[in-house]
Amino acid sequence: MDKYIVNGGNKLQGEVRVSGSKNAALPILAATILSDGECRIENIPEIRDVSLMIEILYKMGAEVRTIDRTTVEMDGSKIYTTVSPNDLCRRLRGSYYLLGTCLGKFGKCEIEMPGGCNFGLRPIDLHIKGLEALGAKISIDGGIIKAETDGLHGANIYLDKASVGATINIMLAATRAKGVTVIENAAREPHIVDLANFLNSMGASVRGAGTDVIKITGVDSLIGVTYSIIPDQIEAGTFMIAAAMTEGDVTVSGLIPKHMDSLTAKLIEAGAEVTEDGESIRVIGKRPINKLNVTAIYYPGFPTDLQPQITAMLSLASGTSIVTESVWDNRFRYVDELIKMGADIKVEGRVATINGVPKLSGASVTACDLRAGAAMILAALAASGATEIDNIIHVERGYEDIVGKLRSIGADIRKESVNEPEIAL
Ligand code: EPZ
Repeated sequence: MDKYIVNGGNKLQGEVRVSGSKNAALPILAATILSDGECRIENIPEIRDVSLMIEILYKMGAEVRTIDRTTVEMDGSKIYTTVSPNDLCRRLRGSYYLLGTCLGKFGKCEIEMPGGCNFGLRPIDLHIKGLEALGAKISIDGGIIKAETDGLHGANIYLDKASVGATINIMLAATRAKGVTVIENAAREPHIVDLANFLNSMGASVRGAGTDVIKITGVDSLIGVTYSIIPDQIEAGTFMIAAAMTEGDVTVSGLIPKHMDSLTAKLIEAGAEVTEDGESIRVIGKRPINKLNVTAIYYPGFPTDLQPQITAMLSLASGTSIVTESVWDNRFRYVDELIKMGADIKVEGRVATINGVPKLSGASVTACDLRAGAAMILAALAASGATEIDNIIHVERGYEDIVGKLRSIGADIRKESVNEPEIAL
């Protein structure tokens, strides 16, 4: 397995540009199935999860033309099967968006239960509840989800939790259902709004995305369009925290400042200088880092996908910080890896108590999942000495050229290939 080698201690300096949003690109690429024509999707991130989604659609019959590193032309209307390639789907959480799109377009779908980062239970009961409310019949047997319908119809759906995935799947299916669908307690993340904008540009009628009530009026057909994906909120936040942790001075460009509000507020509270300018945010890290209380929760609260990264930063704060994880039931597995580097953290259930230490030291650590891997990189950048991070396949699923981007702002990080058979994911 490949690994990263990081020599810590450099103060990051300069400008780094954000790529397209992974969590917007996945549903938007899947949504091209709903179109009756060809779509051109721009600003897609060059990451494994996205290439996996494109490969899944291609294997199902979509016509795919790669225009350049971040642009693809996709004719999802050429799909000739609603049975998804399971060897690929089990490796990608976002593969379950095929449920909403294939049900909406063809009235059926067969797909293996999705994969994705392992931080506790990842049920799909809300997806099923929503799709059944629209008129789908769904069964799960031997890990295979089979869904079909004689015709989807509008419904009023209340989500017990503001689930991103369930909100997206219901939106996708409802776009082609007959009648009006209202989703209450809907997720409000930026990628929900981006998907709604994409669907509306194709001729759908999705109103209220970004609020907790979304109304979708079904339409008979959708046209192919050109669409550019929003910048990745979590990648941007990862670089902002990297600057704050290393006493750096970094401008993160090509982002939407509004999406970063909760993190900006926390970094200012921690003592960093944070200034917005158009589509950029400049972060100047200061020491000492002030202790914080952070609750990771649904948007517009502090994003759970930045929880590992802010915990890594607070390992170096002066005093005791508390980080509470409200979304996932076991998203602190990476803490053991931070402790190997000298962090002083105790986890009880969904609460981490972090006693700041003067410094972290390089060690051999592993990336437990995508954002945990990012947190280990940040800790290594701020640590003294060398750190080896293995299992980096998790990181490369969701960050475009993270080594190149970090090196461009002064990080001493490189990727080393280790001649061991890769463990099949
Ligand atoms: C999406 O996962 C993201 N993944 C995750 O980001 C992110 O952590 C999560 O949203 C929350 O923001 C993608 O977009 C591909 P949820 P998703 O449904 O949709 C419960 C990353 O780092 N729930 O919003 O799977 C669930 O257990 C990844 O990019 C149910 O109970 O998350 C959790 O407690 C990691 N039943 C809460 O809702 C369901 O049917 C939120 O989950 C679905 C979810």
